[in-house]
Amino acid sequence: MKNLEKIIQICKQRGFIFQSAEIYGGLKGFYDYGHLGVLLKNKIKNLWLKEIVFKRDDVFLIESSIIGPRKVYEASGHIESFQDPLVECKNCHNRFRADHLIKGEYGEVKLKDNKPLCPLCGGELTEERNFNLMFKTYIGPVEELASEAYLRPETAQGMFYNFKNVLNSMRAKLPFGIAQIGKVFRNEITPRNFIFRIREFEQMELEFFVDPKEADKWFDSWVEERYNFYLKLGIKKENIRKREYSKEELAHYSSATTDIEYKFPWGWDELEGIANRTNYDLSRHSHFSGEELIYFDEKEKKKILPHVIEPSVGVDRLFLAILLEFYDEDVVDQEERRLFRFPPFLAPIEVAVFPLLGNRKKLVEKAKEVYKLVKENFVAFYDESGSIGRRYRRQDEIGTPFCLTIDFQTLEDNTLTIRDRDTTKQERIKIEEIKDYLKEKLNF
Ligand code: GAP
Repeated sequence: MKNLEKIIQICKQRGFIFQSAEIYGGLKGFYDYGHLGVLLKNKIKNLWLKEIVFKRDDVFLIESSIIGPRKVYEASGHIESFQDPLVECKNCHNRFRADHLIKGEYGEVKLKDNKPLCPLCGGELTEERNFNLMFKTYIGPVEELASEAYLRPETAQGMFYNFKNVLNSMRAKLPFGIAQIGKVFRNEITPRNFIFRIREFEQMELEFFVDPKEADKWFDSWVEERYNFYLKLGIKKENIRKREYSKEELAHYSSATTDIEYKFPWGWDELEGIANRTNYDLSRHSHFSGEELIYFDEKEKKKILPHVIEPSVGVDRLFLAILLEFYDEDVVDQEERRLFRFPPFLAPIEVAVFPLLGNRKKLVEKAKEVYKLVKENFVAFYDESGSIGRRYRRQDEIGTPFCLTIDFQTLEDNTLTIRDRDTTKQERIKIEEIKDYLKEKLNF
């Protein structure tokens, strides 16, 4: 966990991620993203959109509301089934997930009469009870069953109850998908491992509607497609794997699920899940709403109740995997260096611009000119303070792949040096060639 601790420190110092409401003692399971964090998050979301939506012709976007009426979550089965087994220590009153206690996620647990004891104080634990993870609220001034509503625990339901709207407005033909990126909320019993398990997070989900006869084929194809996405992001093969669920592990709506797991510092754990949700959601929402949610096959002149293949990943969890994957340490000029070796297309700041000396008017003027030029097309950062070595290090630490330095030769021949973060090598390039050079390097 050594790297994780260092990464958490850099995240705070450099403005990637802060504990939410920190000045009030912090809110457990909630995090805020700073400037660099938002930039990296946007990169992740845009790459997902590119792969899932823009590269294809059969996936449509939606942004549905975060709060939903009780009926939606009765239909989805969340009110009945979205729960974790909870135990509480009778002595210190800390709460734990019973299944995680048995798996050893809270460390070594002592047993008494074959029952686990509190991992913190050794006290006796209560009997298991089911705890529903949804946050409940009320719409309007009266707190009664009719006004009960929930913060969504997944974005998926918005895609299901809008099935007919999207089908008709987009004139969609089977197979087709509805995709959404958005915030979701889960009152996790024990949030842990930085942003791995939190209570407010963002999901990127696709609901891909298919002819039931083709569901198995599409399930396999989405598992492959999603696995390859992570390789394309630059995650090493030895750090990623697929894991099929056993029957006992499946969620209430799923007939098959494969997780894509990442090798986190505490072991293999879920990054993304791909589930075959069958016709569970559409038939439940049809039943509860009274609206027929089906597809009419014009060719065959028959109604089809589609099955759904769902790849779903948390933005924050992928963010953490990316930080872990690309964090590195080495020695440059006899000095230890901490850096993120992000592929250029993922880097929050794509290019930094420096005058060699910050106190030479002509160099500063020229550097600002170059900065203005690159800013038009790239996420750029300008810095004239401190030694050039320090400035390079500050960019290395946040993963900036390229630094442009304007020196005295620039004033004579309009060339500048471009430094590569990974090799620290510099080459000279004409100012007029920079945009094309960077465009090529930043390609996904
Ligand atoms: N619609 C299906 C669904 O929500 P899930 O496995 O519960 O399935 C999907 O969640 C993804 O959301 C997970 O693979 C993970 O990346 C992310 N995720 C789930 N719970 C999370 C939490 N408490 N904190 C951060 N990310 C979470």
